[in-house]
This record gives sequence, C-alpha cells and structure tokens, in this order.
Amino acid sequence: MILSVKNLSKNFRDGKKNLNVLQDVSFDVKKGEIVTIKGPSGSGKSTLLSILGTLDDADSGKIVINSTLINEVKDLNKLRNLNIGFVFQFHNLISELTLEENVLIPKMINKEEIDNQKIEELFTFFDLQDRMKSFPNDLSGGEKQRVAVMRAIINNPSIVIADEPTGNLDKENVLKIIALFKKLNINNKLTFIIATHDDQIFEIGHSKYNLESGKLIKI
Ligand SMILES: Nc1ncnc2c1ncn2[C@@H]1O[C@H](COP(=O)(O)OP(=O)(O)OP(=O)(O)O)[C@@H](O)[C@H]1O
Ligand SMILES: [Mg+2]
Repeated sequence: MILSVKNLSKNFRDGKKNLNVLQDVSFDVKKGEIVTIKGPSGSGKSTLLSILGTLDDADSGKIVINSTLINEVKDLNKLRNLNIGFVFQFHNLISELTLEENVLIPKMINKEEIDNQKIEELFTFFDLQDRMKSFPNDLSGGEKQRVAVMRAIINNPSIVIADEPTGNLDKENVLKIIALFKKLNINNKLTFIIATHDDQIFEIGHSKYNLESGKLIKI
C-alpha cells in the first residue's frame, strides 16, 4: 500500500458553527492506482487532499505514506518534497521564472544535481521542447497545466495529488490532461489521487469515491 488513511476527522469552526468536514474517513491506495474523488462543492475534497499532502493537519486519524506514519514525522517539508507532487486548478507557476526553472524548483529545494538531458526528454514528452526558456505568461492555459504536471513529477514522487486539475481548461485540454495522466500512470506506474467535478476525468479512476456529508463512500 502506498497510502493508508485511517479514521481521519477534520472540523472547522465558522463563527459559532462547527463544520464536520471529514468524519472517520478511511481508505487505502495501492501503487499505480488512480483514485478519483467527487462530491458537492464544499464537501471537503480540497481539505482531504491538503491533509493527505501534509499541507494541513487532521483533528484525528492516521496517515501512512510509503510505510511512514506521517503523524510522527518531524520534517514534513522533506517528506512532501520527495514523495508528493501537487497539481492545482490554477497552475501556480512563478511568472518571473522560465518554464525550465519552474519545473526544477523541487529539485533545487532538494539541492539535487540537474540532469539536462533528462529535463529535455521530459519537455519533449510533454511536447514543450521548444518552450523551455519561455515564461508562463506566454503559454496557453493547457500548456501551463502541462508544465505544472512536469513540476509535480520531477522528483519521481510516490503520489501525485491533483485538486481539480482540469477545472480551468477547455474540453480539448481536458482530454489532453486525461491522456497524459493515463500515460504517466501506465509508463511510470505513477499513483494519482484526483478530486474533480469533471465526469470524464472522474471516470479514469480505478477506484472512485464520493465525498458527501463528511463521509467518503466507494462507488
Ligand atoms: N480554513 C478554513 N476555515 C473554515 N472553514 C473552512 C476552511 N477551509 C475550508 N473550510 C470549509 O470546509 C468545507 C470544505 O471545503 P473544501 O474546500 O474542502 O471543499 P471542496 O469539496 O474542495 O469544494 P469545491 O468543490 O468547491 O472545491 C467548506 O464548507 C469550507 O467553507
Ligand atoms: Mg476544492
């Protein structure tokens, strides 16, 4: 199992109201599995992904990533940088950096040597080999999202967490991202956890879940 989640609960206080966003959520993810999660707006999908990505804490419950109980990890930044790649609805690229520099951020944080040939191969795989020195603002939305996916996978993460990765794309680019995720899943055995409102991307899940009223239910 690459990820194991047990009895996760999360509440938020909104003024005097208590929001039970996640109630006793448990599930497992195998290596090479694509997990897709849908649910109404405000049902807690982003909250769940943030907690799985160690960007937020749960109130209770256990998360094991790659045999490591993350509740006990002191340096979560390192664990996150090495194990988890993130793709968000808005690409979150840094506009002052070139595409190449954006993609290399996780490697720089990790103070790793850069293999230029590998980087070129990666850009070729994503059909952006001529744009390595371009800046994010010179790209289309779909191209930017492909760069965001490159940045997410540059450190060979165990898991890619994608929160509405196609939320901001047109139909054609949605299909491209779906094809790309499938290709990365098959070629690299990459594991995906994807929250989405899009039926087409939801359908690529090997395991599909619905999050509603705090409960994560397998479909
Ligand atoms: N920091 C916070 N403080 C208080 N309430 C919060 C906080 N973050 C999220 N919430 C609330 O928790 C609930 C779940 O939010 P979340 O963003 O996880 O939903 P979501 O399923 O991702 O929705 P969407 O589909 O619109 O992206 C919402 O009611 C939201 O208002
Ligand atoms: Mg959300």
